[in-house]
Amino acid sequence: MAFIIASRPARAVALVVLAAAGIGIPTRSYTQFAQAAWSTGPVFATQVERGKYLAQAGDCIACHTVPGKPIFSGNRPLPTPFGTLYAPNITSDKKTGIGSWTADEFYNMMHTGRGRDGKLLYPAMPFASYTKVTRQDSDAIFEYMMSVPPVQQENRPHELKFPYNNRSLLIGWRTLYFEEGEYQPDKTKSAEWNRGAYLVQGLGHCSMCHTPINLLGGSSEAKAFQGGLIPMQHWYAPSLTSNREAGLGEWDIKDIMDLLQIGISRRATVYGPMAEVTYNSLQYLTDEDVRAMAVYLKSLPDKETSAPGPNRMPNTPEAVQVFSEGRRVYEAKCASCHGSDGKGYPPHYPPLANNQSIETESAVNPIRMVLNGGYPPGTRKNPYPYGMPPFAQELSDAEIAAVVTYIRTAWGNRGGPVTAREANALRSVTME
Ligand code: HEC
Ligand code: HEC
Ligand code: HEC
Repeated sequence: MAFIIASRPARAVALVVLAAAGIGIPTRSYTQFAQAAWSTGPVFATQVERGKYLAQAGDCIACHTVPGKPIFSGNRPLPTPFGTLYAPNITSDKKTGIGSWTADEFYNMMHTGRGRDGKLLYPAMPFASYTKVTRQDSDAIFEYMMSVPPVQQENRPHELKFPYNNRSLLIGWRTLYFEEGEYQPDKTKSAEWNRGAYLVQGLGHCSMCHTPINLLGGSSEAKAFQGGLIPMQHWYAPSLTSNREAGLGEWDIKDIMDLLQIGISRRATVYGPMAEVTYNSLQYLTDEDVRAMAVYLKSLPDKETSAPGPNRMPNTPEAVQVFSEGRRVYEAKCASCHGSDGKGYPPHYPPLANNQSIETESAVNPIRMVLNGGYPPGTRKNPYPYGMPPFAQELSDAEIAAVVTYIRTAWGNRGGPVTAREANALRSVTME
């Protein structure tokens, strides 16, 4: 997981200084929200149920739970370019978890990115997004966390390289990339749009993966949702803007909703880290909330400067040779499920024609899918997903490069060619 998100520096500096001086938490917007014309989401019988729903929307489980271990007991390793972080135990255990925290301390952490003892948190904890969460929602999440059975387990210390093990360096990062503040509804937009923006920018922390990241582990707000390579994970999160070639511009609201909540759609299926997001988080959201997210995503302006151009396949004899070799492999190994015309048999067998998640600048997504195959997640609305077999054993590096080149450039697709060396490099990457 990377250190991400953006802000306008001048304000962030002021906030860091204020926070350093120990000046209290602003709580003004608590009442404002009650009056604002935007939805506060589904209604639940108890505060704990509401908190559970919100914790699912925030996908806390993804980092704070080792698969197969008790929920929120922590110590899941999160590799970053700076070393490995271990997400702590956040069960209600008083000694090793957060059982002795107060709701104020919890909100302060979500809102300011400072731990209970005031320490600056690493932005792998997505506080840069969670700062948008309202006080009411933070309190509900806290009440739910306190209802989760305590698990006594000491936190494993982070293993970060010098100088990143020094938390005071985070002041610089925060100055550049963190803007504290609850979500402020845009009064010119509908209640639905505001609800979607609140979920996508806040609890959903979608920009953590879907924004390009620079060497400092930060990204500028100007590039939010333009897509990017996820450091250490070797997956590419595509653009979510309305760019027609590389974003969601041509998608229907229904298709975006299906993809997010069910995991399959007429346009594509979720795979890699996005499959986990659907599995752990989005499948549990109500239709209304998922629709609100889709409405917001559809409205993201197209700021892309370097949309993939027309078909980037060079017109040399070698390239023609690779393309026809790719077609041969495709017809033999892939066409039965994805169709000779690349249109697939949606929603279970996704189309590869006009599927922008495989046409991005980096070809990691289609190469890894061909090497490892995969299943979309089993979800409430699609409990028995259809899968794709792995081809790592069956196909040589040259064949994989050829077939991936083929699917990235056939049928009017706008990706570029792939080399056998690129395919080979990804063989050794293990599936998370
Ligand atoms: C993308 C991974 C990720 C997600 C998602 C995530 N966390 Fe964290 N969280 C971390 C990491 C890493 C740390 C440790 C940060 C540090 O040591 O600076 C952390 C720290 C914490 C802490 C302890 C802060 C302290 O003072 O020690 C709490 C409490 C917490 N997270 C709660 C949550 C809740 C609640 C959610 C969901 C709304 C959540 N986290 C989602 C990665 C994550
Ligand atoms: C842990 C990283 C991660 C997070 C967090 C994440 N995504 Fe993704 N997302 C990906 C990756 C990788 C892909 C490409 C694989 C695929 O298409 O399923 C993707 C694909 C998508 C797609 C399909 C795009 C296309 O062109 O086919 C949509 C839509 C999407 N994500 C929306 C979201 C939303 C909304 C959120 C927040 C609720 C989110 N993502 C959070 C990593 C992430
Ligand atoms: C048995 C049917 C089957 C065969 C054969 C098959 N696939 Fe797939 N393919 C699928 C299914 C099902 C998915 C969705 C998997 C997921 O979401 O994890 C998929 C997903 C993909 C994706 C990701 C696109 C997306 O939106 O999910 C790519 C790229 C892909 N296949 C390429 C290929 C190539 C290239 C071949 C031949 C080498 C191939 N497939 C053979 C069934 C198949």
